[in-house]
Amino acid sequence: MQLLSININRVSNSVSENEINVYEPEIKKHIESLYNKTGKGNDFLGWVNLPSEIDNATIKRIENDAEKIKKIAEVFVVIGIGGSYLGARAVIDALSNNFSSIISASERKAPYIIYAGNNINEDYFAELLELLDKKDYAIAVVSKSGTTTEPAIAFRILKQHIEKKYGKLGAKKRIIAITDKAKGALKQLADKEGYSTYTIPDDVGGRYSVLTPVGLLPIAVAGFDISKLIEGAKKMQAQTSPVIPFKENPSAIYAAVRNALLKKGKSLEILASFSPNLHYIIEWWKQLYGESEGKEGKGIFPAGVDFTADLHSMGQYIQEGQRNIFETVISVGTSKKELRIPFDNENADGLNFISGKKISEVNKMAELGTMIAHVDGDVPNILLQIDALNEENIGQLIYFFEMACAISGYILGVNPFDQPGVEAYKKNMFALLGKPGFEKDTEIIMKRF
Ligand code: PA5
Repeated sequence: MQLLSININRVSNSVSENEINVYEPEIKKHIESLYNKTGKGNDFLGWVNLPSEIDNATIKRIENDAEKIKKIAEVFVVIGIGGSYLGARAVIDALSNNFSSIISASERKAPYIIYAGNNINEDYFAELLELLDKKDYAIAVVSKSGTTTEPAIAFRILKQHIEKKYGKLGAKKRIIAITDKAKGALKQLADKEGYSTYTIPDDVGGRYSVLTPVGLLPIAVAGFDISKLIEGAKKMQAQTSPVIPFKENPSAIYAAVRNALLKKGKSLEILASFSPNLHYIIEWWKQLYGESEGKEGKGIFPAGVDFTADLHSMGQYIQEGQRNIFETVISVGTSKKELRIPFDNENADGLNFISGKKISEVNKMAELGTMIAHVDGDVPNILLQIDALNEENIGQLIYFFEMACAISGYILGVNPFDQPGVEAYKKNMFALLGKPGFEKDTEIIMKRF
């Protein structure tokens, strides 16, 4: 397994080496405080040692449960929102066949993973139930707090469906709850109904929880090797630990460059990739950075694009819109499969000059050409390179981003592990729906219409 590498040569038009290196002493302190638990949000630092501390018994239990689910389910429904599903989805999509939804279960060799509880859309639920009428399925219901509205609605609906389909006893064997060890309505329900449960550690917040059963169980059910994923994360944990010098620590460099760019007015970061498999890695990253940094009027706005598709939509803005953008590209070295551009006698499209080339060679030139164009257009570029899409590299990427996010949040002076702003919409929604206890808020909000 090669180590993820970070190339910052293409930020030099905007920030000098000195402007980056100036962060070195501060970052050293921040990494130490993440390990000594002396910084903001120090009761949510369990993720720091997750890769090195996860025990074999937990991995074995997850793998055994995954095997059982594979035998009884064609579809595995992961109910959760935010950090309770995005990590699993990011890893599963990164490693899956692009068309796994329509290839046969036997070819896939694992259930197809479906997500619910991440929206409150009536048609989505109705269509999901229509599908589940026809499929054998099992459910993981994931909620750290055990009180989040969206997954609670989804579970209420699916619990009824699965009990009707398999009977109460049969349903019980098909439901796994992943939640807090003691608190919350989900824990109480799981205990009452006798569901198999996994505990989310107290000191790991949702968006940092992909390397706990929250992510590991669905990833294992989807047929991927969770030991290798953890191996990769462990390697990155070692490479970003307090003993590693600044220049050899990729997370430290990424955090420093982002903040140096922010100081120069680059307040919007676009994470891009040229691999459709990485779409949900970008979505997971958006949550990680958006929820961790965006508070107290601070933070870099995290946006995402899928190239080359978005070169034909957002590409225009990136090239010539407001110059407050920098771009980070996740570049994948080699593809899993090989396919070449065919020769065509007619050559009506004029593409014979690339016939015989691998598609990945063309994609690489699109990548390079885009980076050069964007840098020329005053969009500095950070390049992250992994050699292939596999469990180890995705594990590295996850830990790399988590550590950099925590450091970056500390540089900004915020608590990267809370999300107080998420409450605002919930309060209004409950007031509008007339939730008991919200009577005063209901009265106030109704006057606004
Ligand atoms: O990162 C976070 O903590 C949040 O995004 C949560 O994961 C999300 O709000 C879901 O919360 P819960 O797992 O408590 O249902």
